[in-house]
Amino acid sequence: MNGYDERMTRLSIDADRLYASLDGLGAIGAYHDEPTGLTGVRRLALTAEDGAGRRHVVAAMRALGLAVTVDRIGNVYARREGRDPRAKPVMMGSHIDSVATAGRFDGCLGVLGGLEVVRTLNDAQRVTRRPIVVAFFTEEEGARFSTDMLGSAVAAKRIALETAWSRTDRAGKTVKSELEAIGFLGDAPVELDPPHAYVECHVEQGPVLRAANVDIGVVTGVQAIAWHELVITGRSAHAGTTPMDLRRDPGIAAARIQLYLRAMVLSGRYTKQLRATVGVTQYSPGLVNVVPNRVQMTVDVRHPDDEVLKKALGELVPFYAKVAEEERVEVQHKVTARTPDIAFAPRVQELVLRHAEGRGLSFKKIVSGAGHDAQEMAAVCPAGMVFVPGEYEGISHNPREFSTKEQCANGVNVMLDVVMELAEEEGV
Ligand code: GLV
Ligand code: MN
Ligand code: MN
Repeated sequence: MNGYDERMTRLSIDADRLYASLDGLGAIGAYHDEPTGLTGVRRLALTAEDGAGRRHVVAAMRALGLAVTVDRIGNVYARREGRDPRAKPVMMGSHIDSVATAGRFDGCLGVLGGLEVVRTLNDAQRVTRRPIVVAFFTEEEGARFSTDMLGSAVAAKRIALETAWSRTDRAGKTVKSELEAIGFLGDAPVELDPPHAYVECHVEQGPVLRAANVDIGVVTGVQAIAWHELVITGRSAHAGTTPMDLRRDPGIAAARIQLYLRAMVLSGRYTKQLRATVGVTQYSPGLVNVVPNRVQMTVDVRHPDDEVLKKALGELVPFYAKVAEEERVEVQHKVTARTPDIAFAPRVQELVLRHAEGRGLSFKKIVSGAGHDAQEMAAVCPAGMVFVPGEYEGISHNPREFSTKEQCANGVNVMLDVVMELAEEEGV
């Protein structure tokens, strides 16, 4: 048993204050997005904009009286002491780095929501038994250094620190040098001392919750993900003079791979849940009248069941070789990210569900289609997530990403309830 029920009069966060904090962080790295005409957010990991965003959030952490530590991969942890300093903390967290075309909710809702939970507890002068930690992790997006959940994966020991430090962006800059450049190469050890539990509130980033008209997603787990980076090399030639059968065109190979991915999905061989995306194709030299000599492309394949994803990859990788042979090009592929499906702790799922219900909010169980820091934390401690719906079919990784003040507040209120209950649990 725990002291939670006795001590509990339900608190609620300040929705206006939370929303204002999302606007405040969203102003850092704001840019004009030509295609949508909207103001978007561009805070790629470890850029000057990310550095400014980090300093802004650290200042907010300190203003709340939290003790801030920065580890050697730049993960930031802010701690509020509890009544029992020996007890393991309850952690909330997410990320504040973004893709190059982001809105202001992805990741930030979890971090700023965590700080709003602390602010609410401070205002009510409520001291929990366990300490509470609010974290943000480095390069969750993988948009700059090509592998996602980098900081949380190092904290969870899936990726070694030296490996993470030596990753490079397209300009050849390393994670370590960029951490140094923005002043976030901390000295705390990266290996995370397992918290009591971890909870992350996040926008769904998809259409499911909004279409079902529910307030809260009880996240049961995260699907398996594979990222490949392909370099296809052929031979440049004049577009007008070179007969088609004499070409070695890497563009044709890239197109065949993309269409093959779609055919794999449509075949149903891997169930309808297989997802495949080619997000980058860069042709060199990239001229209208020149057969390219090189294509660099990315492939993102996902499935809720890792066994099924393995089978799909088992078909895809030999196809790279087949295309190489048939098109007389060279296809090199590198696995840049690979995570299995994970299930969140039943205890955390149950708490999310019960507190959503307790607040009279509608809810639905959902598997996350996107990757999250919570999946790394799940290897370290009981972990779970609270999803909130997004408008415009839940569009995300886009400046149109939008959740209302009420949608955000619902999610953070449920996180507050879950954290307050977990933070009263007994034991170390
Ligand atoms: C992270 O946002 C991902 O799922 O790609
Ligand atoms: Mn995210
Ligand atoms: Mn994202």
